[in-house]
Amino acid sequence: MSEPVIAQTAPFVLEMEPGTYWWCRCGKSQDQPFCDGSHKDTEFTPIEVAITEKKRIAWCGCKHSEDKPYCDGTHKNLR
Ligand code: FES
Ligand code: FES
Repeated sequence: MSEPVIAQTAPFVLEMEPGTYWWCRCGKSQDQPFCDGSHKDTEFTPIEVAITEKKRIAWCGCKHSEDKPYCDGTHKNLR
């Protein structure tokens, strides 16, 4: 599998409302950390996430987390 684009070497920490979201796995979206369809010419597809209650989430921005779509600190090894 090819490598995703590193959108940023830090998480996107956001206060999330309940709902369904699609985390960008390819790193090409202009609407990070979410998918905007830019993956269409890549082998990547977004990860669907259902959020049931309001909470703060640290979405992985580097796209290399072992716990996608969440930041697990892997970005520290990419700087
Ligand atoms: Fe990156 Fe859709 S734009 S997965
Ligand atoms: Fe990707 Fe932290 S931003 S692991």
